[in-house]
Amino acid sequence: MASPLRFDGRVVLVTGAGGGLGRAYALAFAERGASVVVNDLGGDFKGVGKGSSAADKVVEEIRRKGGKAVANYDSVEAGEKVVKTALDAFGRIDVVINNAGILRDRSFGRISDEDWDIIHRVHLRGSFLVTRAAWDHMKKQNFGRIIMTSSTSGIFGNFGQANYSAAKLGLLGLSNTLALEGKKNNIHCNTIAPTAASRMTQTVFPQDLMDVLKPDYVAPLVLWLCHENCEENGGLFEVGAGWIGKLRWERTLGAIVRQRNQPMTPESVKANWTKICDFDNAAKPQRIQESFDTIVEALSKIDSDGGVMANRTSHVSSGATSGIAGAVGHKLPPFSSSYTELDTIMYALGVGASMKEPKDLKFIYEGSSDFSCLPTLGVIMAQKSIMGGRLAEIPGLSINLAKVLHGEQYLELYKPFPRAGELKCEAVVADVLDKGSGLVLLMDVYSYSGEELICYNQFSIFVVGSGGFGGKRTSDKAKATVAIPNRPPDAVLTDTTSLNQAALYRLSGDWNPLHIDPNFASLAGFDKPILHGLCTFGFSARHVLQQFADNDVSRFKAIKVRFAKPVYPGQTLQTEMWKEGNRIHFQTKIQETGDIVISNAYVDLVPTSDILAKTPSEGGELQSTLVFEEIGLRLQGIGREVVKKVNAVFEWHITKGGNTAAKWTIDLKNGSGKVYQGPAKGSADTTITLSDEDFMDMVLGKLDPQKAFFSGRLKARGNIMLSQKLQMILKDYAKL
Ligand code: NAI
Repeated sequence: MASPLRFDGRVVLVTGAGGGLGRAYALAFAERGASVVVNDLGGDFKGVGKGSSAADKVVEEIRRKGGKAVANYDSVEAGEKVVKTALDAFGRIDVVINNAGILRDRSFGRISDEDWDIIHRVHLRGSFLVTRAAWDHMKKQNFGRIIMTSSTSGIFGNFGQANYSAAKLGLLGLSNTLALEGKKNNIHCNTIAPTAASRMTQTVFPQDLMDVLKPDYVAPLVLWLCHENCEENGGLFEVGAGWIGKLRWERTLGAIVRQRNQPMTPESVKANWTKICDFDNAAKPQRIQESFDTIVEALSKIDSDGGVMANRTSHVSSGATSGIAGAVGHKLPPFSSSYTELDTIMYALGVGASMKEPKDLKFIYEGSSDFSCLPTLGVIMAQKSIMGGRLAEIPGLSINLAKVLHGEQYLELYKPFPRAGELKCEAVVADVLDKGSGLVLLMDVYSYSGEELICYNQFSIFVVGSGGFGGKRTSDKAKATVAIPNRPPDAVLTDTTSLNQAALYRLSGDWNPLHIDPNFASLAGFDKPILHGLCTFGFSARHVLQQFADNDVSRFKAIKVRFAKPVYPGQTLQTEMWKEGNRIHFQTKIQETGDIVISNAYVDLVPTSDILAKTPSEGGELQSTLVFEEIGLRLQGIGREVVKKVNAVFEWHITKGGNTAAKWTIDLKNGSGKVYQGPAKGSADTTITLSDEDFMDMVLGKLDPQKAFFSGRLKARGNIMLSQKLQMILKDYAKL
């Protein structure tokens, strides 16, 4: 046998406990060990008069049976006093049963102001005042159970009870919100709509019914809902005669009745009326977010095709797995979009490239000789091809866009991104997985510049609540995440995002108001607008590129991430990195909270040897190659002397047709100096960028380095003053 539900040590306050239902609750709680406050004003059922005898009698009855009880004779309108009785007598308050009530039945046209007001004061305001007085005590002790007493008159309406119905359903609204606000402090609030014999129902029910509708057939539900083991919160129950049923909301799939850029008319409402009211496949929304989601989905639907909405549940269509077979392999219409240097720069700023980091200039200044797109820009272009409601068009799936979460992302580059241009993206459904709690849609997107494949993306899109259709859980098409090594990270880079980070990032094309509009964010369940997951992704990728590839975008091969938690603009992102050969494992945390926001991620770099192997053939066509080699030869004799004079490392970026064609390092700082191809091992004091032709003119004395610098033909970073020593080096050692 299940062990009895006990309330030892608990203090229970029952309002209106001098008779009827309240009395039954008080007796039942006391019988099971609770200390009970029996509150009752003691008036008649219309709320006229008062007295102590009703409460006293019940207290007496409890004590006679060996229970613990005290009386309180205040009106529930004096909520503080009522609760004070519990605190004074028993030192705490665990359970509040808002039960006190009166009736002032009148047909609507005859309801006086007083009849309206007193009903609201006793039922709604009284429950508010008593509960509020107990609330902070419950919060502090991290436990509380509250019952609101509603009525079927409120739920369904009842002749002659407009005042009462309104107040009673008001209690349900109150309970709904308390259930949400109390949850984190283990305060549960539930609502009952009882049917029982009492003086209130005497005139309504015939005697034979009165005999069987005992208040004792309601009390057990109230006791269970108030027990510490009961998880129920925010529920609504009808109860009477030994029967209990739970109620919930149901909503039709509804219909969209306006088209993009068109006015909404009553005629279109009329035309869609049957559909608006059709409860087939109805949803059972439980949270305000679900209402909001539907609105967002409708907006996106209107925005994407302007059409009248078809069936839009977030389920897999009937014949589930066969529907999926139709979806896999489905190609979305090709999508082209062009981008300019402005877009490239905007994106870089959006993911935190900054003037505070000199090496970022190449990402945010189109005049840099090595101006480059951040590789993760590849996601932005591809994402556009699957946004705008396009996923909702996949046959065999009926995706509720409002339930879509970005789960994982893979990006692979075959070439560095052109600084501007047009990309054509082709998206295809790679697979559909059933994860139980949701469906995972794997979207492969190929992006082409002309005929050339520039990059490939795989979006893992999680559709909440659409799983359980009997599909497979895994796919060999999925790009897997990889666990991070089990040791402290090799490197950690941090960046504090700005409060405007999401506002800036969204300009790159993700316009979801969740990231900017506080109202949308709060409806979606967030305290404030959250940062785009792909923005954090951009920050992290930039960190890896900076730490392990010297911001050389040609070394960026691929990236895979899993989005684990949201980030708020203003928080500090901390990328922890582990180098394992050419794979850089990483995870990203919020520094302030320690929460992991990107997990099990990695970046694959192109091995330096591949780049060096490639560069000589390109570099071979450069005239400057010979000069560098010659400088290297001549250094052998007198290197030590030059090193003393110069004491600097120069990195050279030689460009051809606007792109970096070769990198050279002249090390005049260490040992007897050295010249080698590639970026400086360690750090360069000065990095100089200029074209192959200008380099030759300079060494031939035709171009003055300082003039080249001021005219913008030569770019120098780092310690620019050191570049004055260039003339000496070039004059002395490069006269060919
Ligand atoms: P009841 O009249 O036997 O009990 C209500 C008690 O509340 C009375 O003892 C009364 O003195 C007390 N009370 C009235 N105003 C008060 C105030 N301002 N402060 C403190 N105590 C006050 O009626 P019953 O049937 O036991 O009702 C209990 C609750 O259940 C009420 O809220 C009622 O609206 C609700 N209800 C009852 C139904 C039924 O079938 N009995 C149906 C639907 C709802």
